[in-house]
Amino acid sequence: MIKTPYYLIDKSKLLRNMEKIAYVREHSGAKALLALKCFATWSVFDLMSQYMDGTTSSSLNEVKLGKLKFGGETHAYSVAYADDEIEEVLAHSDKIIFNSIGQLERFADASASHVRGLRLNPGVSSSEFLIADPSRPFSRLGEWDADKVATVIDQISGFMIHNNCENSDFALFDQMLGEIEDKFGSLLEQPQIGWVSLGGGIHFTGENYPLDQFCARLKAFSERYGVQVFLEPGEASITMSTSLEVTVLDTLYNGKQLAIVDSSIEAHMLDLLIYRESAKMAPNDGELEYMVCGKSCLAGDIFGEFKFERELKVGDRLSFIDAAGYTMVKKNWFNGVKMPAIAVRELDGSVELVKEFTFDDFVNSLS
Ligand SMILES: Cc1ncc(COP(=O)(O)O)c(C=O)c1O
Repeated sequence: MIKTPYYLIDKSKLLRNMEKIAYVREHSGAKALLALKCFATWSVFDLMSQYMDGTTSSSLNEVKLGKLKFGGETHAYSVAYADDEIEEVLAHSDKIIFNSIGQLERFADASASHVRGLRLNPGVSSSEFLIADPSRPFSRLGEWDADKVATVIDQISGFMIHNNCENSDFALFDQMLGEIEDKFGSLLEQPQIGWVSLGGGIHFTGENYPLDQFCARLKAFSERYGVQVFLEPGEASITMSTSLEVTVLDTLYNGKQLAIVDSSIEAHMLDLLIYRESAKMAPNDGELEYMVCGKSCLAGDIFGEFKFERELKVGDRLSFIDAAGYTMVKKNWFNGVKMPAIAVRELDGSVELVKEFTFDDFVNSLS
């Protein structure tokens, strides 16, 4: 028995996403790179790397992780590189994508023999949250002005455009890609432009996504501009593959039934707290409702309100589903709460504990 809390990655569930990604690669010609910012738990890269072309990154550390642990094609991107990072970034990447013309020019000599791209910002996005909207007013994420970009186009061979956010609506993806074509078509059709990454945020591995229409649209885009298309799925790669396993430590009644578990939304599922979203449980349809809370001191350390068939008791095991994306990469030592271990359910059903965190890890996270 593995002690809670722990994240449990189920490879057979991961495989369902991988097979959809493989389908899209085959039918659209696009290449798929795992966005490490979303999920970087390298214990399952052995499976993922059979179905994806490589990784993309947001920092020197991520690009190194991708190169060393995943392999395949490694894209380097960062909002801004520091002078003392650039050599190592170049040494660990096949392509470097600069966020701004300023960065491209700053590292023009250092990167002269590397494959280089630039991030474009089309000014349209599907984000419902301002904090996550790459096209928010005054956004620093990419260049907006096609005329300005045209002045440096000789130095690059491709573009990255990440404007989708949790977008499960193919029509909206299609419409925004059309807007990108209108705005940046004159750049995309330049003969020296050979590749375009359309970023992440497209939820094409979800239920009922029209995969064939998606593939046809990607293929048409690729053929129209003569470019290799890349996708950078983060969430789409790992959606619904992982749970956070916890145990009830206490129950209280304070006008509502409360259950406190041996985890913390702030420490172990921080993204949900940032976006004011509830964790997910399934099933969630009994007669008894509980507010399930974390054990940190934060008053709002609440995973959500869930319905149960039976009264909850100390020692009961609960499982939050869909717990892979932007969780493990953001976990932290707030309150010194025990950091969840990481376990993997292999394809044969056996469960392997792949990582445990100790007091020493807590101590070593500070000095
Ligand atoms: C440049 C870039 N690529 C890919 C992703 C991955 O997005 P998602 O996890 O929503 O697929 C992000 C997310 O912010 C991103 O900024």
